[in-house]
Amino acid sequence: TRVAAVIPAAGRGVRLGPGAPKALRTLGGTPMLVHAVRALAASRAVSLVVVVAPPDGAAEVKSLLDAHALPGGTPSGTWGGTDFMVVPGGDSRQESVRLGLEALPPGHDIVLVHDAARPLVPVDTVDAVIEAVRDGAVAVVPALPLADTVKQVEPAAEPGAPEPVVATPDRARLRAVQTPQGFDRATLVRAHETVTDGVTDDASMVEQLGEPVVAVPGHEEAFKVTRPLDLVLAEAVLARRRL
Ligand code: C5P
Repeated sequence: TRVAAVIPAAGRGVRLGPGAPKALRTLGGTPMLVHAVRALAASRAVSLVVVVAPPDGAAEVKSLLDAHALPGGTPSGTWGGTDFMVVPGGDSRQESVRLGLEALPPGHDIVLVHDAARPLVPVDTVDAVIEAVRDGAVAVVPALPLADTVKQVEPAAEPGAPEPVVATPDRARLRAVQTPQGFDRATLVRAHETVTDGVTDDASMVEQLGEPVVAVPGHEEAFKVTRPLDLVLAEAVLARRRL
């Protein structure tokens, strides 16, 4: 069974502060998106990567990827044996993923969805997700236990006011969920056709269909680069890998 990966990379990255779209900001001098594509192309199982670019930036992203792929001596549009294509994204992550799915050619029955904002995911994590889908799961998420205790709050009466705490879920049964999330393609397509609510990951859409989702161990280095401190951490992880 062939595996394709959709990488939503159309976000603005507002929480990271002013600057280029998040996926185009650099780590160790290389755009985050390039790291993310490399991380998935590193898996021998992944034969196609679909990058979902900012709506007005698809051409720029395509030439960026070509520029990083070509030095390996491979023809434009491939990356060491992994094909890639670029499509324009939408206003929400959910819409961007759907547009990526619509661009997928037939023949890839397993689909991974991976945030460009998780550029340092190790290939072993990618392969573990793929293996779980190959073993029969329709939806797989890499997940880690939480270090912090989590509270559920009510919205504050006014911005900046203290928020009433209403519950403390049992931390031992909570997981922080990462990407790549892996899916039976037909199930994921059905989820994107059916679920229209605002959601923050793809597995939750499959849950809403009533289909089972399972978690496998994630990895600390698959963290999401969201805020400025995450960039500091990501640079440090990269520097350590290059030692
Ligand atoms: O906003 P969030 O951190 O959840 O974004 C996760 C991923 O979704 C990022 O890689 C971002 O580029 C992508 N995204 C997108 N299209 C949007 C919004 C976010 O592809 N409209």
